[in-house]
Amino acid sequence: MLKQELEDGQLGLADPNFRRDVLNGLAASPRAIPARWFYDRRGSELFEAITDLPEYYPTRTETALLRQTGPELGALAARGAAVVEFGSGSSTKTPILLRAIDPAAYVPIDISGDFLRQSADELSQAFPGLPVYPVEADFLRPVPLPPQVKDMPKLGFFPGSTIGNMNAWHAVDLLRAMRTWLGEGARLLIGMDRVKSPDILIPAYDDEHGVTAEFNLNLLERINRELGGTIPLDAFRHRAIWNADAARIEMHLEAVRDVRFQVDGRPFSMSAGETIHTENSHKYGPNGARQLLRAGGWTPIKEWSDPQDWFGLILCEAQPIRMAP
Ligand code: AVI
Repeated sequence: MLKQELEDGQLGLADPNFRRDVLNGLAASPRAIPARWFYDRRGSELFEAITDLPEYYPTRTETALLRQTGPELGALAARGAAVVEFGSGSSTKTPILLRAIDPAAYVPIDISGDFLRQSADELSQAFPGLPVYPVEADFLRPVPLPPQVKDMPKLGFFPGSTIGNMNAWHAVDLLRAMRTWLGEGARLLIGMDRVKSPDILIPAYDDEHGVTAEFNLNLLERINRELGGTIPLDAFRHRAIWNADAARIEMHLEAVRDVRFQVDGRPFSMSAGETIHTENSHKYGPNGARQLLRAGGWTPIKEWSDPQDWFGLILCEAQPIRMAP
């Protein structure tokens, strides 16, 4: 109980980075809070529920793609490779990959120690001979890989189109950092959601049953609970917008009336119609995806997509960087 309260930031022990991001984000113009703060315990549960929604096509499309490409992946992967998964969470995709390529080790990296230990235990049971070396770390900062996998060829695994939640600047930074951690010659299997009609995209981020709305609004509940906020939840509604110029779905919390509240003792006021921008989910065409990967130091060598071309799975390699031409 105490542990959970501490994890949820009760008892006045809120994460100082959360406090800083919320206070700065609410004071900024336009107002924005980084999407990483969605994922408290309730937010993680709601995200899992989103991945099962009929409207949310990415998870099932990528999972089906992985199943289909398994045998080909098995042939393409280096023998004796260590699979390094970035943001492993409670992924159901991982066993499909591990079965396909039969690696020498598995290194799940996740910021949430609870999720990490649970999924590492489950995988160890499902793959009894496979050494699993979990690393509890925020992969947006330098990640030390365990010494046991130092001399193994590496296959990075970054599914779920999580790269889409970063703008291009940060995405390239992260891809370059992954290249440094995994080393020249390493491979990376990455899932990237494709640009498609807003008729498909909007319902995927604004579902009929309001699960995504609850996921978005849960951020306000978290602020109230962990940062002593007084935000009236009924003064906000969930909005999902397709920004065609930036090729991204944006999630916002929109004030439905003029509202005043406090967070951590600081007063804020918003007018009806004003929003707090809470998430970007960038979508890439095939060329844009390849360009982004190349900018991050990864050469695409093989890619797969579903028949509707809704989601791309790309295998790339950290080839030596050559000077032009
Ligand atoms: C985690 N990430 C890839 C999800 C996405 O599709 O951008 C987060 C999400 N937000 C709303 N629905 C799902």
